[in-house]
Amino acid sequence: MALSKALFFFLVNISFLLTFSYAADPLVSYNFEVSYITASPLGVPQQVIAINGEFPGPVINVTTNNNVAVNVRNKLDESLLIHWSGIQQRRSSWQDGVLGTNCPIPSKWNWTYNFQVKDQIGSFFYFPSLHFQRAAGGFGGFIVNNREIIPIPFDTPDGDIVILIGDWYTRNHSALRKDLDAGKDLGMPDGVLINGKGPYRYNDTLVPDGIDHEKIEVHPGKTYRIRVHNVGVSTSLNFRIQSHNLLLAESEGSYTVQQNYTSLDIHVGQSYSFLLSTDQNASTDYYIVASARFVNESRWQRVTGVGILHYTNSKGNAVGPLPPAPDDQYDKTYSMNQARSIRWNVSASGARPNPQGSFRYGSINVTEIYVLKNKPLEKIGGKRRATLSGLSFVNPSTPIRLADQFKVKEVYKLNFPTKPLTGPSRAETSVINGTYRGFMEIILQNNDTKMHTYHMSGYAFFVVGMDYGDWSENSRGTYNKWDGIARSTTQVYPGAWTAILVSLDNVGVWNIRTENLDSWYLGQETYIRVVNPEATNKTELPMPDNALFCGALQKMQKPQHISSAAPPIKGNRLKLLFFTWLMFTCGLVPIFLH
Ligand SMILES: *[C@@H]1O[C@H](CO)[C@@H](O)[C@H](O)[C@H]1NC(C)=O
Ligand SMILES: *[C@@H]1O[C@H](CO)[C@@H](O)[C@H](O)[C@H]1NC(C)=O
Ligand SMILES: *[C@@H]1O[C@H](CO)[C@@H](O)[C@H](O)[C@H]1NC(C)=O
Ligand SMILES: *[C@@H]1O[C@H](CO)[C@@H](O)[C@H](O)[C@H]1NC(C)=O
Ligand SMILES: *[C@@H]1O[C@H](CO)[C@@H](O)[C@H](O)[C@H]1NC(C)=O
Ligand SMILES: *[C@@H]1O[C@H](CO)[C@@H](O)[C@H](O)[C@H]1NC(C)=O
Ligand SMILES: *[C@@H]1O[C@H](CO)[C@@H](O)[C@H](O)[C@H]1NC(C)=O
Ligand SMILES: *[C@@H]1O[C@H](CO)[C@@H](O)[C@H](O)[C@H]1NC(C)=O
Ligand SMILES: *[C@@H]1O[C@H](CO)[C@@H](O)[C@H](O)[C@H]1NC(C)=O
Ligand SMILES: *[C@@H]1O[C@H](CO)[C@@H](O)[C@H](O)[C@H]1NC(C)=O
Ligand SMILES: *[C@@H]1O[C@H](CO)[C@@H](O)[C@H](O)[C@H]1NC(C)=O
Ligand SMILES: *[C@@H]1O[C@H](CO)[C@@H](O)[C@H](O)[C@H]1NC(C)=O
Repeated sequence: MALSKALFFFLVNISFLLTFSYAADPLVSYNFEVSYITASPLGVPQQVIAINGEFPGPVINVTTNNNVAVNVRNKLDESLLIHWSGIQQRRSSWQDGVLGTNCPIPSKWNWTYNFQVKDQIGSFFYFPSLHFQRAAGGFGGFIVNNREIIPIPFDTPDGDIVILIGDWYTRNHSALRKDLDAGKDLGMPDGVLINGKGPYRYNDTLVPDGIDHEKIEVHPGKTYRIRVHNVGVSTSLNFRIQSHNLLLAESEGSYTVQQNYTSLDIHVGQSYSFLLSTDQNASTDYYIVASARFVNESRWQRVTGVGILHYTNSKGNAVGPLPPAPDDQYDKTYSMNQARSIRWNVSASGARPNPQGSFRYGSINVTEIYVLKNKPLEKIGGKRRATLSGLSFVNPSTPIRLADQFKVKEVYKLNFPTKPLTGPSRAETSVINGTYRGFMEIILQNNDTKMHTYHMSGYAFFVVGMDYGDWSENSRGTYNKWDGIARSTTQVYPGAWTAILVSLDNVGVWNIRTENLDSWYLGQETYIRVVNPEATNKTELPMPDNALFCGALQKMQKPQHISSAAPPIKGNRLKLLFFTWLMFTCGLVPIFLH
């Protein structure tokens, strides 16, 4: 009896090792306690989502190939999933933290994400993906550093600074959700936050007294890497720092051709690294500004994020007007040309020499083409919904990946159309049938009147073209077949298209969605299912031991012992002890003690 028990644990722990600690790569662990706190970023007390009591959450800072474990304890009054935006989760969509791949973590439960950050280096972020929670916080930066043996295309910066910018409502996320459910628009946001803080009082009329602002301290004569992420709901933001150039160096895991910008448009869900030289004379502090784009400036003046860059030798406060936003109200190509100017540095080394199969993506034959077209919101079955190609996605109660694993039928249809439907729109769980090792061209056509950004999980795709009007076959003549940037989130201007190419080499079920949170909430998303027809465990990791069950598989879910102190339950403790023993006996300890 005792022997068979020992054997059982032995097997459990072998699979535990194989699951997420394969290879001798260090394990880095985080504990995330997700709860509500009260904060007043815009002077109005409101309920926000904090991680370990912090708003925004802590930065995850790891090195490529690290195994990362994040034990997420859900202290909210509703279910939760954390999505690691831009982290490719290679071979393991099980860890992606969206409803198509994971059952939600129930209120009061905890669940541990285990994944390896592989084949990518750069700036990413995480956020809660359910129930409109991102509008209430729960987000934070996610840095993947290079290993020492891999050079980076610039001198090691003197400091590393994460800046989260985003529009913000003083209504809480359940109130916002209620508005959307009732078919209403959210209206203009109440402000733009910089690292969870409201604007510096640069103007007494526009900014009330008593608001806490973000202040970033720097030393003169240094170079800082600043990583800027738009974590907001739906507003495109122009980012700039008074009197300073922003030398663009990296975007969502790709090194760019290094160019100076006085300001850069950062759309919802996008991430950029800039190298900032503190080369000014510090006669005053300097404004850091994130202002709304493509809006009527006079109405949106109050909705501007303002922080402070403070040199240690600064002689006084920042004064005077903010540095101006681009004056391009009548020039809709200005912003698009700026987007096109962001190029990939094809000679810089990456996390792996050959991202997505080839540097020379322009010479790979496309094997499948999808035109994904949105429209302004419309009514489907009496409810206001958002669509992609005429389909409004309905999240299944059993996650798609889990349904595949247990061969649960009729959870979804693998029939997402290659071209937009022409008939009436419908609400459905329709998924794209991706071909493993195929090379897919996706044309994102924005037929809406507002800006959208589209994000794809599991991959970095090449942004090869964008233009106004309807895409046609002739548009291919304008594609950048050489140094289009590889990233995970691209903007699509209203009335315009963006074309991306993606090498489907990552097996799993991967979310593709608008980052515009209200449209996403109302159904503008789908998934790409990529299956290796060959039965092997090499191209996809097995289902994790701790997988949660829900929907048709609810019966398989064991109840979780709930306690605020959370002592591991007896079985787990045994397993832990045995695991420790195993580590010692197998000489694995050094691997885990980094
Ligand atoms: C919940 O947290 C405890 C420790 O706090 C840990 O032992 C346990 O594995 C976690 N459960 C899951 C499902 O991750
Ligand atoms: C591209 O990367 C290479 C290699 O690191 C570097 O030497 C070069 O300066 C970079 N080019 C540009 C334009 O940023
Ligand atoms: C991340 O960790 C590296 C050391 O591994 C450190 O140099 C860097 O400053 C850290 N970045 C942040 C934002 O904490
Ligand atoms: C969220 O907002 C709604 C509507 O204003 C309010 O009734 C509710 O109490 C708020 N919830 C919390 C926890 O603040
Ligand atoms: C503050 O903003 C108001 C409204 O835009 C403007 O009229 C006023 O001139 C500004 N004050 C200063 C000191 O710039
Ligand atoms: C960018 O601007 C800085 C000054 O802020 C300058 O030193 C540097 O040479 C510029 N780099 C490029 C690539 O233009
Ligand atoms: C500092 O630079 C500003 C322009 O950036 C200039 O107007 C000012 O005179 C300079 N001050 C000193 C003390 O050099
Ligand atoms: C911008 O808003 C202001 C104030 O609401 C209004 O007077 C003005 O007509 C608007 N301008 C445009 C171009 O819509
Ligand atoms: C791509 O397609 C062309 C013509 O259809 C063919 O000649 C060529 O060999 C293909 N290239 C590759 C790499 O498969
Ligand atoms: C999905 O695509 C594969 C080829 O990649 C094909 O064999 C299969 O029949 C397709 N499934 C459906 C339902 O269309
Ligand atoms: C939306 O599509 C229709 C039909 O193709 C076209 O007439 C209209 O101009 C498009 N609108 C936008 C904003 O793209
Ligand atoms: C894959 O691994 C699972 C257990 O993790 C095992 O049951 C299955 O037989 C393996 N499949 C193959 C094809 O090796």
